[in-house]
Amino acid sequence: MRVLSGIQPTGRFHWGNYFGAIRQYIDLQWEHESYYFVANLHALTTVRDRDLLRQLTHDAAVDLLALGLDPDRATLFVQSDVPEVCQLCWLLMTGTPMGLLQRCHAYKDKVARGLPADAGLFTYPVLMAADILAYDADWVPVGEDQLQHIEVCRDVAASFNHRYGETFVLPQGKVLPHAARVPGTDGEKMSKSYHNTLEVFEDPKVLRKKIMRIVTDSRPMEQPKDPETDHLFQLYSLLATPQEREEMAALYRRGGFGYGQVKQALADLAERFFEEPRARRAELEAHPQRVREILGDGAQRARRKAAEVLGRAEQACGVRYCV
Ligand code: TYM
Repeated sequence: MRVLSGIQPTGRFHWGNYFGAIRQYIDLQWEHESYYFVANLHALTTVRDRDLLRQLTHDAAVDLLALGLDPDRATLFVQSDVPEVCQLCWLLMTGTPMGLLQRCHAYKDKVARGLPADAGLFTYPVLMAADILAYDADWVPVGEDQLQHIEVCRDVAASFNHRYGETFVLPQGKVLPHAARVPGTDGEKMSKSYHNTLEVFEDPKVLRKKIMRIVTDSRPMEQPKDPETDHLFQLYSLLATPQEREEMAALYRRGGFGYGQVKQALADLAERFFEEPRARRAELEAHPQRVREILGDGAQRARRKAAEVLGRAEQACGVRYCV
């Protein structure tokens, strides 16, 4: 089984990225051949500042390593270091119906909000398809919000295969059983674009302040509450041990507590949960050359595989010419 996933460096990673996707990648690396990349070409549709994009790309790679990605097991690289993906993207684009892309939510949402959209955003799912197909990936572990894009990838690959003969492996989008749909500080889906995120490597004092500002309802303290429908409890559950989770659930059902108390407990858990990755991150930051070597090795390995698949696709559709 070959596993692949990507993550955009559009800001620092938040708990949605970690509990929705990254944690799964890290588990899967022990059992499967895996490819993970920092999707800086996708981020270019929103981050227009050169220095910021470079910094966020570096931060994303360091964060993934600090969170447990092992470069001896998984191939970690930066998307733009594999130019074969953009070549493959063009081949796929020529067979992608406009209607398929018009139905994609990232584009539709932006247009619905009256924001200007460019061709990069419109064709974003085709680049994502190229990312996946270039490595013959069987499995793509992602959060729920990316499943539509994986369906597009399967459609595009199937129609290419139908037209030119079996060329691409059709991937499965996987939301793993323990992947969470993580709520943000306002109870909506946690997302950079909703400004409701809690960052994995936030300074603990700042994080505590953000947690204390999590929106809660105004029911009186003494009233019993259903933990399962409460986003503060959902966040707490992500970090708690099973016993801590049960004790907190019992407190909710009993009533007679304040949300402030839960928030303090959540901030304590967060500090404990990310303590080790934070130490590993500091160590990596002290050795930037090591990070560059890891990404350079990863890119070389990824390019070898992507060149093989691109060659196959070029042969299939008749654009492999003098070289
Ligand atoms: P991105 O960068 O928006 O998100 C990275 C991963 O985090 C998951 N995620 C969440 N999961 C649960 N709850 C949340 N609140 C939450 N917020 C984010 C996302 O589902 C995702 O798995 N287009 C992709 C990047 C990409 C990619 C690829 C992924 C580019 N090429 C090829 C897989 C394969 C994206 O924007 O993810």
